[in-house]
Amino acid sequence: MTLPIGVLISGGGSNLQALIDRMEAGVLDVTIQTVISNIPGVKGLDRAAKHGIFSQTLSHRDCPDRESYDRVLVRALRDAGAQAVVLAGFMRLVGPELLAAFPGRVLNIHPALLPSFPGLHAQNQAAEHGVRLAGCTVHFVDEEVDHGPIIIQAAVPALPGEGAEMLGNRILTLEHRVFPQAVQWLAEGRLDVQGRQVVVRPGERPLATRNDLPPCLIFPPLEDGF
Ligand code: GRF
Repeated sequence: MTLPIGVLISGGGSNLQALIDRMEAGVLDVTIQTVISNIPGVKGLDRAAKHGIFSQTLSHRDCPDRESYDRVLVRALRDAGAQAVVLAGFMRLVGPELLAAFPGRVLNIHPALLPSFPGLHAQNQAAEHGVRLAGCTVHFVDEEVDHGPIIIQAAVPALPGEGAEMLGNRILTLEHRVFPQAVQWLAEGRLDVQGRQVVVRPGERPLATRNDLPPCLIFPPLEDGF
């Protein structure tokens, strides 16, 4: 079964590209019904166009408040036939209205090991804090910032003095692997949320055998194709 999703972006869309690539490789069972950017002219919109995916710019600036912007998003997502929503570098908070329209079906990727460093510039926060392990988190979205139940995390070593940019790049490489995997688990209906705990039910795919990852720890482990 293929899950129709909407992807919300605000920028470069490299995570969107990772989803498209896994989709086109035939391992991610979703169709991207629409890509929506709140910022005009971003590269992510070009990526969508290049792959024949319907995209639209819906600026939050055209709405007087968060609630009305949420309503605009819900309408656009529903009109496009989306049944789940994936926030791929979407730099706006989504509110109760959108969450109620897609209950348990809104995912976000955050470039830190939550609950450390929620909010903006997480890679900078981690580098400045001097952590020895940094990483990324895919989680269900709830009404608090970068807070909902955690689906998968990847940790990478943080090298003293390497700076936020290099660390951020290393984290991004892992984002591109764990995000499509989490979306696939959602598409397969394998995610059980029990309070803050997310259980990934066993599936039919064997674990990944690709050996092209930098030093990292990913849990739950990636499955074949991701
Ligand atoms: C990623 O680091 C993501 O974790 C964060 O915003 C960044 C978006 O990058 N939420 P891209 O637009 O997917 O390239």
